[in-house]
Amino acid sequence: MGDGTLHVVGARPNFMKAAPVVRALLDGGERVRLVHTGQHYDNLLSDVFFRELEMPEPDAYLGVGSGSHGRQTARLLTALEDCLLEEQPDRVVVYGDVNSTMAATLTAAKLNIPVAHVEAGLRSFDRTMPEEVNRVVTDALSDLHFVTSPEAIANLAREGIDPDSIQFVGNPMIDTLDRVMAILTESDKTDASSGAPYGVVTLHRPSNVDDPGRLEELVRGLGYVSEVIPLVFPVHPRGRARFDDAGLSRLPNLDTRQPMGFIDFVRLMAGASLVLTDSGGIQEETTVLGVPCLTLRTTTERPITVSWGTNRLVEREADAMLAAAKLALDEDRTPTRPPLWDGSAGQRIASILATEDG
Ligand code: UD1
Repeated sequence: MGDGTLHVVGARPNFMKAAPVVRALLDGGERVRLVHTGQHYDNLLSDVFFRELEMPEPDAYLGVGSGSHGRQTARLLTALEDCLLEEQPDRVVVYGDVNSTMAATLTAAKLNIPVAHVEAGLRSFDRTMPEEVNRVVTDALSDLHFVTSPEAIANLAREGIDPDSIQFVGNPMIDTLDRVMAILTESDKTDASSGAPYGVVTLHRPSNVDDPGRLEELVRGLGYVSEVIPLVFPVHPRGRARFDDAGLSRLPNLDTRQPMGFIDFVRLMAGASLVLTDSGGIQEETTVLGVPCLTLRTTTERPITVSWGTNRLVEREADAMLAAAKLALDEDRTPTRPPLWDGSAGQRIASILATEDG
């Protein structure tokens, strides 16, 4: 029962989504087979998450590494085809919207292996985002769609996806957040929130980091905001050199850090007065934590965090960033939980997988 399911992960945001599903399957006595593609390979982007989330060692590590989208995807397809031919799973489970997600889905579909997609149906409607292309391809080829929020059901319906393949299960990323919040000690939480106020920054999307003009304006905006509230910025390796060129390290009230492990990052985020980000998952986590989130993008694939939560889209222009930050700092913290973001999504997904495979 369930022996035939293979879970594929590859990059940082996959690990938080897979961990609660894998845990629930193991707790239910199911055998779990896990493949790590190696899209992310640095200790700080990968190993630390496996340790902190108590993920089992992967059964296979494919070591595909970095490259342009075409090259990385080609390496993923080649390595995953060999892996799936060897493992012969009855089903592949994929998570989120990274290149590993899309490549595992395409490989499995070509081998006629059914695919279940966790976090299906999110759409920014902006196909210049690599993740949007990955989401559309993954959902088109998946047989089972686990959705985290109701608007995803309508998005999938619009693309002609069979409604019987859609399961509204809630958000496994929030299961992981809840688990970490529960293990943070009371003093961790109060230390973080009773000290001097600070904001947190994460920016790594190509649309922000790859264009020098945009990056310069973002750094100017961060300079303005950091005069109102000091900022902590764990910098993703992909953007570090470009941020240095744009003068980030010269901002006196902005503290740049290495990428953080999940527990440290949740502690930092939970104690923050404000988050500025272009991440997807952080828009969701700040909603549940009640921390105001300024998303420096023109679109979001997670509109429920705007309609229900603390998120708002902010123009990537220095004065707009400052005005939005001031407004957000005046707001009360109001944690909210969209439907089924209750810490049990992993359990629901595991039950459905176990029943389907049984
Ligand atoms: C990927 C995902 C993105 C996700 C992000 C989270 C895709 C298309 N993008 O972006 O959706 O939000 O992960 O972190 O899948 N690098 C390292 N060490 C690593 C991995 C990468 O230094 O362990 C550097 C390399 O310079 C690499 C660059 O980061 O070229 C980009 O890595 P890649 O996996 O292609 O995309 P991310 O920007 O990490």
